[in-house]
Amino acid sequence: MKIKSITLKNYRNYDQLKIQFDSKLNIIIGDNAQGKTNLLESIYTGGFGKSFRASKESELVKFGEMVTAVKIEIERENGFSETIEYRINDKSKKEFLINGVNITKISDLLGTINLILFYPDDLKLIKESPVERRRFLNRELSHISKVYCLDIIEYNRILFQRNELLKKIPYKPEFRDMLEIWDEQLVEKGAKLIKRRQHFIDDLAMISNRIHGEVTKHKESLSITYLTAVKNTENYDTIKSELSMMLKKNVEIDLKRGFTSVGPHRDDFEICINNINIKSFGSQGQQRTAALSLKLSEIEIIKKDVGEYPILLLDDVMSELDVNRQKDLIYALKDVQTIITTTDVKNLLDEYINASKIIKIKNGSVLNH
Ligand SMILES: Nc1ncnc2c1ncn2[C@@H]1O[C@H](COP(=O)(O)OP(=O)(O)OP(=O)(O)O)[C@@H](O)[C@H]1O
Ligand SMILES: [Mg+2]
Repeated sequence: MKIKSITLKNYRNYDQLKIQFDSKLNIIIGDNAQGKTNLLESIYTGGFGKSFRASKESELVKFGEMVTAVKIEIERENGFSETIEYRINDKSKKEFLINGVNITKISDLLGTINLILFYPDDLKLIKESPVERRRFLNRELSHISKVYCLDIIEYNRILFQRNELLKKIPYKPEFRDMLEIWDEQLVEKGAKLIKRRQHFIDDLAMISNRIHGEVTKHKESLSITYLTAVKNTENYDTIKSELSMMLKKNVEIDLKRGFTSVGPHRDDFEICINNINIKSFGSQGQQRTAALSLKLSEIEIIKKDVGEYPILLLDDVMSELDVNRQKDLIYALKDVQTIITTTDVKNLLDEYINASKIIKIKNGSVLNH
């Protein structure tokens, strides 16, 4: 799948603009604060249904305007074209259309355009709390699998209900019998999530170790381990019975705390380089390269699961890589439509310049394309 063009109207610092993209490499060049990240964000919002950096969608509407409208034209590998459009108003009301037809649920949008974004904030994935890594798992898996997307929404709903009940029982003990109903549902959905996550992490670990090896000339070996309360994650039924047992065992603690202490909402994963946890002991460069290896692995996971290469959006990563790592990256991306932003063309290799479409951006306008 490729993005053929994007048309923006009143999106952040853009008035009205249409940009055509090359099917391989596109480089967006511009000084700071000219609209490079805004452009990637407008594509991302069309793929995921929400921005990766706005706290309210109304932030996407150009200052002083009422409505933002964006249209993305894509072309599938079978040659068919599709369009995704969205409108957001200054009250954050959103509307999405696929091929001109309104969609009511964001889950129907996911998977229409497969995107991978690498953004400086992605280092949080390595450096910060398990919340960031769970967010990563949920986002990536929801994109690959609609079933997972619906399961996680449902799991969170059941978890919320169970937690509400836990808070109520100390005052109204007659509600205690109801716990069993929620436990049963929580275990059923929770086991599905754990099994799917284990499968995803196995793929991610294998592919990212290979990519990381290539990028570091085999000096570093990268491993990823799924951390979940369940010991045996191979079989759905055994995950279910283990989870169920743990919920029962922890019920008194849960009642005291008023929330559910075990389950996939507490999962994490650990990333090691040469068997050392890089969250605590990795150098900045190692953390950055590991984060990029994870992202590049997703390209292959999506290709394997969905059958088409995703589109890669790279915000400001080139300047952070040394020349050898840049070269390896270009090679790794040869089959993937890529949109890269940078402030400085001098830092880019000739291979990049020759093989790509250059789009210069100044103050929300394209200078030449
Ligand atoms: N809703 C909005 N309306 C108008 N302008 C906006 C809006 N939201 C953000 N901007 C402006 O858009 C400008 C460009 O932002 P963007 O993050 O895309 O810059 P950039 O080119 O990626 O810069 P950098 O190289 O520093 O990352 C900012 O100066 C910001 O003030
Ligand atoms: Mg930027």
